[in-house]
Amino acid sequence: MAREETTDFMAMKGAGYYSKATIGAKHVMDNATQMVIDAVDRMDPSKRSGVFRATDMGAADGGTSLDMWRRVLANVRERAPERPIEMIYTDLPRNDFSQVFQIVHGLTGEATYLNEVSGIHAMASATSFHEAILPSDTLDLGFSATASHYITAVPCNIENHVHMVGATGKTRQAYEDKGAADWDNMLAKRGAEMKRGARLCLFNFGIDSEGQYLGNTGGVNMFDTFALHWRSLVDDGLITEEEFVNTNFPQVYRTQDQFIAPLNDKNSAAYASGLRLEHVEARVVRCPFEQQYSEAGEDPKEFASDYIPTLRSWSEPTFANGLSRERSPVDRAGIIDTFYQRYEAMVANCPEGHAMDYVHIYLVCMKQ
Ligand SMILES: C[S@@+](CC[C@H](N)C(=O)[O-])C[C@H]1O[C@@H](n2cnc3c(N)ncnc32)[C@H](O)[C@@H]1O
Repeated sequence: MAREETTDFMAMKGAGYYSKATIGAKHVMDNATQMVIDAVDRMDPSKRSGVFRATDMGAADGGTSLDMWRRVLANVRERAPERPIEMIYTDLPRNDFSQVFQIVHGLTGEATYLNEVSGIHAMASATSFHEAILPSDTLDLGFSATASHYITAVPCNIENHVHMVGATGKTRQAYEDKGAADWDNMLAKRGAEMKRGARLCLFNFGIDSEGQYLGNTGGVNMFDTFALHWRSLVDDGLITEEEFVNTNFPQVYRTQDQFIAPLNDKNSAAYASGLRLEHVEARVVRCPFEQQYSEAGEDPKEFASDYIPTLRSWSEPTFANGLSRERSPVDRAGIIDTFYQRYEAMVANCPEGHAMDYVHIYLVCMKQ
């Protein structure tokens, strides 16, 4: 199995930071829970016996999806009162899996399905979703939110930017090609795992028909702002040009057409695995921090100090990974703090237009 470079460093901030700071990702799932329930209804779990197995792939600490699973698993239980349910959380090896178990077992105070729905067995896997997580023909319901944009490795450095949304020409093409190959492979791996009639629900970061994507919905572009402040650290001699160049998000944002291409292409690995598209749509979910600021008239400084942690919860590993291995941990931590402080000061001084609105392409597939 080829080594996935992203696996080496990627993890959301642990100890509960992720789900506390990332309430918007929870809204994405809460708002679209019915889509998963409808998929379960179409599959009708009462038609089979034995274990009903579900995965939450790229679950981070599991806190953001907990309420969605409470509703979905209650629905499965109602339809199939006798079937044992296996709920498998997956992420990469550096993920804080201890936090997953604390949240799911109710140690952090959130209401959990384990206290509400009988016969659920919760467990975890640290195998990448670019690999086979489960044996063939054993999965009933696959799910993943806000994770499939992570590719196995960056294909090249990005000139004068940190994310493929700021890349052009051959560089942009290299990321799109890598994104297409990883996506087809990831779908095919799921197709192999799924039982016939099983469903796969994926809520993916993407680019909608108006060209909008995370943090780019009409105001200040978040990824351009990341690049601006990272560049300012070079200008001030705090990081080197090489470190700037080596900082690239291992992510690809795909358009709706790019998402559905392998599901309609009879020659793709995804299609050959038996996966077929049932539903696709794009939605924008408003940034809860910007909403609180504009509707409740929050102080700009408070807005900035609430807003930056949501960006930091998922972006920090990429910036830390760009820094030289020669630097001491203290030096690295200081640079990263300075970087986010600059972003926060900018928002506090001029909050207008800053927002991390979520732009997702939602897909539901079935295995033929
Ligand atoms: C932005 S978080 C989303 C967490 C949660 N699903 C949500 O919607 O709030 C993305 C998660 O995907 C995980 N991830 C990235 N690449 C992955 C891979 N190849 N396999 C499994 N998880 C991966 C990251 O470690 C991270 O926890």
